[in-house]
Amino acid sequence: MRSIHLEANVGDIAETVLLPGDPLRAKFVAENYLTDVVCYNKVRNMFGFTGLYKGQRVSIQGTGMGMGSAGIYIYELIHTYRCQNLIRVGTCGSIQEDLDLGQVLLVTGASGDSDANTVLFKNQHFAPTASFKLLVQAYEIAKRLDIRVHPGTVFSTNTFYDLEPNRWDVWKAHGILGIDMETEILYTMACRFGVNALSLLTVSDNILTGSASSQEDREKTFNQMMEVALGLA
Ligand code: HPA
Repeated sequence: MRSIHLEANVGDIAETVLLPGDPLRAKFVAENYLTDVVCYNKVRNMFGFTGLYKGQRVSIQGTGMGMGSAGIYIYELIHTYRCQNLIRVGTCGSIQEDLDLGQVLLVTGASGDSDANTVLFKNQHFAPTASFKLLVQAYEIAKRLDIRVHPGTVFSTNTFYDLEPNRWDVWKAHGILGIDMETEILYTMACRFGVNALSLLTVSDNILTGSASSQEDREKTFNQMMEVALGLA
């Protein structure tokens, strides 16, 4: 059996899955961090791989950008492939002046503009949160590896290009650290279906100042985030 958007057989995908938005990042991680790698999905070029990290079986699956795309893969990973630990490894734009490029966020909870949530919760407001177990484990791993992480909240949006100036002022005032495009749906689905989820995000740009990290910086901080995420496997 396979799902609609993944051609893997049941059993091909590990219980713990890392979820980058970019399928080529999934490929990079599989090739550079894992051994005994098998590519289980090429449908839509949304690559998915299973391999070993320090002897532990782990998968890495691209999700695409935005909650529509990510929600499809998350749903199928949970329902068809019975994945238990879903760990997003992505980037976000900072909306706080003092949050530097390259910092790693340990996302405790996500606000957002997911239409799926608006419909599901009938205009009331669900507060999607991380799995406490994964959050604590990730924090401990980061401490052990001497990697600085910032616990805090993000806002997940389906519109990367904002037409409205000052859109983020009210969210910034409420302590939201950064903007991504997937965490709200990941946490909502994990809460709904009783699995564990955590988002680890590196700050790739500052939305207030327009600054963005260089490719070199991105690689370095990406490595730190990956060490924490893979430690969870
Ligand atoms: N907006 C939304 N998602 C993002 C951004 C951003 O500026 N940067 C990285 N992911």
